[in-house]
Amino acid sequence: MIVLGIESSCDESAVALLEIDRTQKPKILFEAIASQVDLHAQYGGVVPELAAREHLRSLPILLDRALVESGLSASKIDLVGVTQGPGLKGCLLIGIEFAKGFCIGQNLPLYGVNHIEGHIHAAKLDEPALKEPFIALVVSGGHTEIVRVRANYEYAVLSRTIDDAAGEAFDKSANLLGFEYPGGARLAALADSVDSSRFILPKVMRESEGFSFSGLKTAISLLIRRQKETLSDETIRAELAFAIQESIIDSLLYKLKRELEKEQVTAITVTGGVACNKRLRQKIKDACGLPVYFPNVEHCVDNAAMIALVAGLKYKGSSHKMESDLEVLPRWPVEQLNFS
Ligand code: KG4
Ligand code: ZN
Repeated sequence: MIVLGIESSCDESAVALLEIDRTQKPKILFEAIASQVDLHAQYGGVVPELAAREHLRSLPILLDRALVESGLSASKIDLVGVTQGPGLKGCLLIGIEFAKGFCIGQNLPLYGVNHIEGHIHAAKLDEPALKEPFIALVVSGGHTEIVRVRANYEYAVLSRTIDDAAGEAFDKSANLLGFEYPGGARLAALADSVDSSRFILPKVMRESEGFSFSGLKTAISLLIRRQKETLSDETIRAELAFAIQESIIDSLLYKLKRELEKEQVTAITVTGGVACNKRLRQKIKDACGLPVYFPNVEHCVDNAAMIALVAGLKYKGSSHKMESDLEVLPRWPVEQLNFS
């Protein structure tokens, strides 16, 4: 089966063509992402209206490229998967309407995919050995969740953030250190250049139910303010970055280990943009005692191959209603999928 995937939930427009046979590793025939990072950097965060306008401009170009560069004619596509939510309403709407237009033109079925479910299964694009039951740590700019995943796409959210997401904690801290939005990866690179315990941040809200990064953010901003005079010293900036990275990772790792103690699972996957973080990868591998699967970097961040994958795995032919009226679901908790 050949699935076209379309993703537009936030600030990346993405299109992929995936050949999927449920028993084998899915084969990516084409994938491309048009990133809007430079557009939003000047505003210090994503501007939803600008993002939606960019999706409108980029998606037709990406789809043309997909067909030309893969050498496939549109008639060879069997199914279209599009991100239905969660995400920015206007952005989702552009992707969904674009997908509907293509499906009507080509007489194709359309399947609405939950973006978080896409992240949860993204490692299967690169690591077919990942099998249920597993725990997924989803860490991105918009989401921080620990999800137990059982066979038949059954989900239980064990912990989620009550304020900022882990990626936001990285980005806001990076901003305090003088990096342009989104500075998470640059903060991580600076942190990785040293190994120092000169600065230690408090372990905030460790015992609370969900994740919380707002207390940590306050502690970080106080620490940076106190060190203002010394921030021009590159080593001190790196040592601050190191302390920030350690504290965000500590918070993720502490809760992940706590949930693992209670759950009967055979593997872990860590996914979402923050899963690109090398220190996080190493610490989870060292601490968790189970096989850990990470998507390749291009599949950690928002991408359309993961959307095509979930559509291809879950679509059940004519048993599923034709979604010509697929609605936008800006808030769509992953556990609601258990009842759909
Ligand atoms: O999954 P993603 O592309 O978009 C969302 O769905 O939000 O994640 C982007 C987030 C940003 O906050 C970015 O700073 C963070 O992932 N990120 C990192 C690293 N690379 C990307 N955070 C920490 N370390 C990294 N190496
Ligand atoms: Zn995402």
